[in-house]
Amino acid sequence: MTAVSDAATVASRLRAIEGVGRDRRRGGYSRHVFTTAERELREWFAERAAACGLDVEPDGNGNVWAWWHPCPRGDAPAVVTGSHLDSVPGGGAFDGPLGVISALCAVERLRASGFRPARPLAVVAFAEEEGGRFGVPCLGSRLLTGAIEPGSALRLTDGDGDTLADVAARAGLRPERMGPDADLLARIGVFVELHVEQGRGLVDLDSPVALGTSIDPHGRWRLSITGRGDHAGSAALADRRDPMVPAAHAVVAARQAARAASHDGARATVGRLEPSPGGSNAIASRVDVWLDARSADGNVVRQVVAEVCAAAGRSAEQEGCELEVFAESWSEATRFDPLLRARMRGILGDLPELATGAGHDAGVLAAHVPAGMLYVRNPTGISHAPAEHAEPEDCESGVEALTRVLSELAGSTGADGADGTGGNGSW
Ligand code: GLV
Ligand code: MN
Ligand code: MN
Repeated sequence: MTAVSDAATVASRLRAIEGVGRDRRRGGYSRHVFTTAERELREWFAERAAACGLDVEPDGNGNVWAWWHPCPRGDAPAVVTGSHLDSVPGGGAFDGPLGVISALCAVERLRASGFRPARPLAVVAFAEEEGGRFGVPCLGSRLLTGAIEPGSALRLTDGDGDTLADVAARAGLRPERMGPDADLLARIGVFVELHVEQGRGLVDLDSPVALGTSIDPHGRWRLSITGRGDHAGSAALADRRDPMVPAAHAVVAARQAARAASHDGARATVGRLEPSPGGSNAIASRVDVWLDARSADGNVVRQVVAEVCAAAGRSAEQEGCELEVFAESWSEATRFDPLLRARMRGILGDLPELATGAGHDAGVLAAHVPAGMLYVRNPTGISHAPAEHAEPEDCESGVEALTRVLSELAGSTGADGADGTGGNGSW
């Protein structure tokens, strides 16, 4: 990693980590929780946060917090910002790191301006937001808030069959202590996450930054189809029990169900298909099909999933295979706090607002504290792929917006300790 100056831009901070976790096979980045790459990013984050005078405190669930305490040290609930450092397999450089880096840049700029918060201000890097290693998205924020039962989280396995409990213990966590942290949650007064936009909304609106309004309900299901492993050349077609055939029907059914007129606006995706043993000259004995389904209406999501499972089940029966369906994760609809949104609009002026189908830790936090989001324009709208992008000047507009929001929400005691910009004590 290269050294960067104190007056860093978002682009220079992104350059500092551009070599970490590159995926030579897939392209882009694979930075999964507690891998070498992701740990390197955590260390980088801790170093940068400490360099700007923040107190770095990992929590018991794998999330890393960096605190700016007011002086004299008060115990008012904090203004928290941040995002995540992990990626999807072969993901882009912005999803996650942009929010963490923008948060650090905002804190640096506030410090450089002489601002002193009237209440604690914290930057957080949440663990396993993408669920790229253990399958459940926003795992760190779910554990913190109790949105996932710790026992079932600890039993989750990665691609090598290692449990979260084992991997977390190797990373220095105490698995028996993982789970809801009411004390830490009570320290959060308000949470604002900045994120690269994951669609073309801001291109169409011709604006570098937008305010988030809501997150669609979404979830992941795993269709595990068991057949009989055999030889690709010698097993007669009539004798085969090939789980790849119902898996293929599931893929097609996902598109058909999402497209159906009654499911207008729904998305259903199979992006992960795992045949076992996975030999090109072997009929698989099992295939796991991961179905991701989303819609503004949770009932539509459930209907889409039911249709896909029914299609896969019919095909499995014809093929002599068994189908089991596991609900791996579910996120209810999020509506970001209307008062916080109004406050952010008051601070930032006339800003477009966007609803999204992408999940975020802010959505998990929103069930417990006022939460809001800022999106930064993505010129192609492509995300979860190496082509994900945001122009440097748009990233700077994002930091500027975040800096203004944080300074207003955290208030200021001014350099002389006198009450300054009048932060809202209710957050
Ligand atoms: C996270 O970006 C998700 O929505 O899957
Ligand atoms: Mn993502
Ligand atoms: Mn993200």
